[in-house]
Amino acid sequence: MDSPGVITQAALDVDRVRQDFPILHEQVYGIDLVYLDNAATTQKPRTVIEAVTNYYSVGNANVHRAVHRLSQVATEAYEGARVKVQRLINAADSREIVWLRGVTEGINLIANGLSAQFKPGDEIVVSNMEHHSNIVPWQMLCQRTGAVLRVIPIDESGQLEMDRFEELLGPRTKLVSVVHVSNALGTVNPVKRIVDLAHERGIPVVIDGAQCVQHYPVDVQELDCEFYAISGHKMYAPTGIGALYGKADWLERLPPYQGGGDMILSVSFEGTTYNEIPFKFEAGTPHIAGAIGMGAAVDYLLSLGLENIASYEHDLLEYATEQALQIPGLQIVGTADKKSSVLSFTIDRVHPHDIGTILDQQGIAIRTGHHCAQPVMDRYQIPATARISLCFYNTRQEIDAAFAALRKVQEVFS
Ligand code: ALA
Repeated sequence: MDSPGVITQAALDVDRVRQDFPILHEQVYGIDLVYLDNAATTQKPRTVIEAVTNYYSVGNANVHRAVHRLSQVATEAYEGARVKVQRLINAADSREIVWLRGVTEGINLIANGLSAQFKPGDEIVVSNMEHHSNIVPWQMLCQRTGAVLRVIPIDESGQLEMDRFEELLGPRTKLVSVVHVSNALGTVNPVKRIVDLAHERGIPVVIDGAQCVQHYPVDVQELDCEFYAISGHKMYAPTGIGALYGKADWLERLPPYQGGGDMILSVSFEGTTYNEIPFKFEAGTPHIAGAIGMGAAVDYLLSLGLENIASYEHDLLEYATEQALQIPGLQIVGTADKKSSVLSFTIDRVHPHDIGTILDQQGIAIRTGHHCAQPVMDRYQIPATARISLCFYNTRQEIDAAFAALRKVQEVFS
């Protein structure tokens, strides 16, 4: 999907949903927590916490390695979770889902695996709104191979300049790697169009889906991208777990990323035969509890319904944007037509870190800084922004609390 359809009838009971998240009932400094930093990491529902606890309490064993009952149960849960992720993004085959630590490791895996196919002068196209995780691995590839990074510019509203993108695609372009939803701006990129334009020229496409799968339905077969990377902790699952989707033929051709146990069929000192996909990319004992937790997070998301989530979050973002527009001296950074759950802003004469600190003192958690997207800050010639990032357990009352606090920030600095 490129962008959410606007569903006007939200069918999400936020009071009930909030009961599922223990941390939302915590206090900081004796004040009820208002957690508006969901693009950094999401909180975990009880079902995810229990899935992890349950694994360690009654199901702990290694996977793929033993005939004993516990190992079989752990393997079934681990592989079952892989199938859940497959269904979440509608991959054709669970062999196309590689468990790893998250988007960062996914992109590093691809960049390492593809290195041998690059020669000096080959070009990789990324955009000006990428997270560092979709810039630095490609820069490292460029250093190794002599390839060159080309950058799709973004306009003042934070949308990709698609004409410039088309101009960048040339005979030397070997790969396009773009973010689906920007963590710093909230822009939802036209990734289907990007894939189509790249494919017309025979160029493969990697998509960073870290900020998308938790907000909208994603269908990798419809998108037809070669790779799609996601991070568990941004979609209500534990930290340290994520998944890389890759078309089977691409994964087959990529060499392993790391060597070790479980990624082999046989080993001798004369040589090693690698395991089949996806296992050839999963060296060593994996994050079994994390994968099981990620499976539970998928169940949770699907039980709410991603269309319902998209609709509810769309309303919340509109509400927050209306409030922001009423604050004199506040500039929204990122005003694309299609946006998701992120409100980045600056306030005249106040450093974003001061905004964050004053909000924190009132129990309100937001992120301030460059959001691991320094080229975005350079584009707008600002050092940092304050960022409210919303999700389906947030409420209008929490947004009211944040904007009341922002008015206090202005009073303090006026
Ligand atoms: N990428 C995460 C964020 O946007 C950490 O905050």
